[in-house]
Amino acid sequence: MSQTTPASSQYTWAGRFSEPMSDLVKRYTASVDFDKRMWRQDIRGSLAHAKMLAKQGIISAADLSDIVRGMAQVTSEIESGAFEWSLDLEDVHLNIEKRLTALVGDAGKRLHTGRSRNDQVATDIRLYLRDAIDDILVLLKAFQTSLLDLAEREAATPMPGFTHLQVAQPITFGHHLMAWFEMTRRDAERFADVRRRTNRLPLGAAALAGTTYPIDREFVAAELGFDGVCENSLDAVSDRDFAIEFCAASALLMMHISRMSEELVLWMNPRFAFVKIADSFCTGSSIMPQKKNPDVPELARGKTGRVYGHLTALLTLMKGQPLAYNKDNQEDKEPLFDAVDTVSDTLRIFADMIPGITARPDNMRDALRQGFATATDLADYLTRKGLPFRDAHEAVGLAVRRAEELGVDLPELPFETLKSFSPLVADDVFSVLTVEGSLASRKHIGGTAPEQVRAAIARARQRV
Ligand code: ARG
Repeated sequence: MSQTTPASSQYTWAGRFSEPMSDLVKRYTASVDFDKRMWRQDIRGSLAHAKMLAKQGIISAADLSDIVRGMAQVTSEIESGAFEWSLDLEDVHLNIEKRLTALVGDAGKRLHTGRSRNDQVATDIRLYLRDAIDDILVLLKAFQTSLLDLAEREAATPMPGFTHLQVAQPITFGHHLMAWFEMTRRDAERFADVRRRTNRLPLGAAALAGTTYPIDREFVAAELGFDGVCENSLDAVSDRDFAIEFCAASALLMMHISRMSEELVLWMNPRFAFVKIADSFCTGSSIMPQKKNPDVPELARGKTGRVYGHLTALLTLMKGQPLAYNKDNQEDKEPLFDAVDTVSDTLRIFADMIPGITARPDNMRDALRQGFATATDLADYLTRKGLPFRDAHEAVGLAVRRAEELGVDLPELPFETLKSFSPLVADDVFSVLTVEGSLASRKHIGGTAPEQVRAAIARARQRV
């Protein structure tokens, strides 16, 4: 049996209630433990609302100055940790309003004129998310810059490119890193796009139908830096599609980071040994003294799952809701906040980790040799000399088989042996069989030639 507390005037809305609320119900319905993180946005929104009320003559100038003074006091109490958050007051909005009223009296009670917690919370979340997106865009830029710096350092470092995780053709490590960069560039575009739709003001919708007071919504929007107002009051208080979009953009970003992480984990494995990661991003084993584990990329790969989970949670939260506001929407915050935290921390740690990655070029080159990475170049060579590509493909396949038997790479086959697979082989063949020759010949935009990689980096630097 749960305990009960009496219905008392401490509930802002308790007027019509005769039965007390059980402690369990109180705990179940309260959100203050997690929504208090929006306190700055709540106060910002309230101040803009109060300013508008005064401008419109709905409250007096004296009320406004009491509210401004009281909110300054509330702000310093929260900042110093002196503020007492109370579960009895349900959420961040009622906690702040109650304290304001204790500090300034009736002016505090007038603040909620023409407003509902429904449009208030929708405004707070949008302000919060807009701020979070701005922070994430800064972090993304730092991550991108660290990628570009590493790509520049490794613009001409040959490594195997893979398809089916089998050695395919030579690429440069810088080119590979620039593929990562392109992924993040689209991620940044997506976050900026979500920001546009997030940045609309719900306030003024009140509970759901609008309000009878002569409010000025455009004024409040401008005060808060919104690009405009939500144009339907029902939609304004109910939809959380902007939060869902944010989680979708976050899920895609994490998917990209997870792929990068998977590659880092593979490359750290001694069978690959393509890179080293600074020790400070790895951990040891409590039982195996020799171990150095790539924990940071592994965790990033793992955390991707929770962000996918948040996207699914919010989509599911929304799908059954009739218009307009429903309490279900209180459940939007924890997934959203955790997505913000996970994405922010992951970007921060990747921006720090990337500069500590060093290539191991000898191992990359060994892998190229063992994979006959220039086989396609030989086929292209024969094709240029007039052999139909399919015939060239077959001739080179036979040459690879021979090289494999002899335990050598293609350029190490004697000239006469190479020529035995096609009379078109001439002594210029060796230049196309080298890794450097192969790289240099892919010199169109988007190709792996070091000069193209450097050009791509230069273009990218203009854009970030
Ligand atoms: N804590 C609530 C939420 O997060 C605030 C809005 C409450 N509105 C209401 N009518 N009970 O959604």
